[in-house]
Amino acid sequence: MIRILSGIQPSGALHLGNYFGMMRPAIELQERGEAFYFIADYHALTSVRDPAALRAHSRQIAVDFLSCGLDPARTCLFRQSDVPEVAELAWILSTVTPMGLLERCHSFKDKTAHGISPTHGLFAYPVLMAADILLYDSDLVPVGRDQKQHLEVTRDIAVKMNETYGTLFKLPEPHIREEVATVKGLDGQKMSKSYHNTIDLFLPEKVLRKTIMGIVTDSTPVEAPKDPGQSTIVDLYRLFASPGEIADMEARFRAGGTGYGDFKKQLFERILDYFRLMQARRDHLLAHPEEVDVVLRAGAEKARSVAASVLDRVRAGVGLR
Ligand code: ADP
Ligand code: TRP
Repeated sequence: MIRILSGIQPSGALHLGNYFGMMRPAIELQERGEAFYFIADYHALTSVRDPAALRAHSRQIAVDFLSCGLDPARTCLFRQSDVPEVAELAWILSTVTPMGLLERCHSFKDKTAHGISPTHGLFAYPVLMAADILLYDSDLVPVGRDQKQHLEVTRDIAVKMNETYGTLFKLPEPHIREEVATVKGLDGQKMSKSYHNTIDLFLPEKVLRKTIMGIVTDSTPVEAPKDPGQSTIVDLYRLFASPGEIADMEARFRAGGTGYGDFKKQLFERILDYFRLMQARRDHLLAHPEEVDVVLRAGAEKARSVAASVLDRVRAGVGLR
């Protein structure tokens, strides 16, 4: 049975990019193997310095993941810091990781350019991510395209370990769904917390409507034909609608006579509808926090037992035991 693993940082509210790029593919994959999904709270410490916020975001990720269809009976959901073994593995991996490999990573440069402090933790982030993946002998890692380089670094580190110490690790494969690899934000750039252009999951109806109405459009008049290939509205609608509905919206763009506001309303209705059931599940979980605690406790226990046996193998392999 293949092992599938992914993580998401509790650094803020989840958005449609996170959902389509990572969460939904991860949830679909839980049918195909043994899945381990975790809340990357050690990673989030590189950007969140407010303990109450970190706790709240961690909780929110657990609730949102469960609301969106993660099945705790089949999938292990856990908090990264409940398995501190990962920090030990990260240290061991760091001793074979060439500095140059980390210096080439885009995410350090992107994040510092967006105002996150250039700490050692941020620089070494890919090593901790490699430890996350290798600690569970993962085969497949569902992520959005922006994480591809981190998966390459993980493989490079695993190869380096295997060359140095004999085969200790298998090489994980990224699982990137091309059709949703980069979900666009309100301004047409990649949707990202750091760009303040997100459409967050589970917004109250009024706020969602206002957010969708804020999608940036050009000044083409209502009567004029519009190019569906250049529209963020159509791009987002594609994520939710059937092929027939998409073709219909595209035809109405080309025909002219409909303003962007009407298309936005249609998109808004679709999003609301899509998340309706999940919203109900979320309301239930928010009213029953103890159910979430039970899931996280069981997840931690299961993850820890896998981690302990892999770490024993690694300690023995490198001569610590
Ligand atoms: P953000 O850019 O908002 O900080 P993260 O870096 O925390 O988001 O991403 C968490 C997961 O969601 C990763 O697997 C990432 O690839 C995916 N993801 C984030 N934004 C997008 C997007 N706009 N399109 C597709 N996937 C995305
Ligand atoms: N770096 C990922 C992100 O920012 C989160 C993450 C941490 C992760 N460890 C992981 C994803 C291991 C997949 C596998 O989105």
